[in-house]
Amino acid sequence: MVTHSAEFYKKAPPQKGASSFVYPPTGDNMAFFAEALKAGCLVAIPTETVYGLAGLALDETASRSIFEVKGRPLMDPLILHVANPAMVEQLADIPAGFSRLTEAFWPGPLTIILPKKPIVPNLVTAGKPTVAVRMPRHPVAHALLELVGQPLAAPSANPFGYVSPSTAQHVTDSFGESVPFIIDGGACEIGLESTILDLSRPDFPEILRPGAISAEQVGEILGRPVQVRNKQLNLDQAATAPGTFSKHYSPKARLSLFGEDENPSPSDNQAVVYLQRPSSIDDKHAYWLSENGNMETIARSLFALLRQLDAMGYETIACQKPNPASGGLAHAVADRMQRAAAK
Ligand code: TXA
Ligand code: MG
Repeated sequence: MVTHSAEFYKKAPPQKGASSFVYPPTGDNMAFFAEALKAGCLVAIPTETVYGLAGLALDETASRSIFEVKGRPLMDPLILHVANPAMVEQLADIPAGFSRLTEAFWPGPLTIILPKKPIVPNLVTAGKPTVAVRMPRHPVAHALLELVGQPLAAPSANPFGYVSPSTAQHVTDSFGESVPFIIDGGACEIGLESTILDLSRPDFPEILRPGAISAEQVGEILGRPVQVRNKQLNLDQAATAPGTFSKHYSPKARLSLFGEDENPSPSDNQAVVYLQRPSSIDDKHAYWLSENGNMETIARSLFALLRQLDAMGYETIACQKPNPASGGLAHAVADRMQRAAAK
């Protein structure tokens, strides 16, 4: 594949955005970014979950630069984003149940792992025989995928190990000029990464990462119970089972978690984060993820607040954890907090 990305990086997209590298999704800009992607450039794009750092999935040069820019180890495979379910046919073997799942949940926050076809570079899948695919529902991501007409690899647009971005500003805060093309699609609707379902062994469907779509919802469509993998692995072990790093999504500040009945003390060094606005605590170092405990609001606010508290220079963040047994989104929020707090 021929790449002329250097030429594109010298050009500015037609219409400027609010800050240096952030551009609005106007028709002219979208056409520019689609051409830039086709030439091998990377473009940060909004999705309904988090912002992604996108590049041509089947072009090894583009995919390699995704790993480089993120500082991501080559053993951690990328998710391929598609414009429609039919695009998956060239990438993977389609098992029973796949089309029922896509009818129920695509476009949307469900990533599905399938046996890969040879066209997908081993670099992208980190040498694994499987490939992760997802059709995002954010209108900007969807329109761009249609314009490009090819699958885009897109991990979350954060340096490896740091908190995922839920706004365009978060992307530029972390990367500066190393990601000069960012499309602004507003704050992400969900704010947590997609649910990852491993369907490569159709008789043993397994959730590898909880998200907005629950194991119960997936199980209902598949007509069988779906396991949730809860074993947390360290970096070495994760080489054989990526997507399950125990330490992930971490702010620079040390994070500790507390339950419903505990009461950590806010201080100059320690921010305390509650799930909902506390009625009895009035302290400038107390923060909350929602007014009234609404779990969708909590999920949407989590990464933005962790980034904000990091920027404010707190040494430690004590964060109230929802009960994962409440299921659904509470399980996904608790998972991200646990990973962020892992030593
Ligand atoms: O919501 C999302 O999924 C976002 C947006 C941008 O789409 N993307 C995202 O990508 O979170 P990333 O790369 O940050 O997380 C993808 C996870 C990684 O932990 C990776 O190890 C896992 O998916 N993964 C990818 N391919 C896999 C495979 N073949 N087998 C097991 N895990 C895989
Ligand atoms: Mg990520």
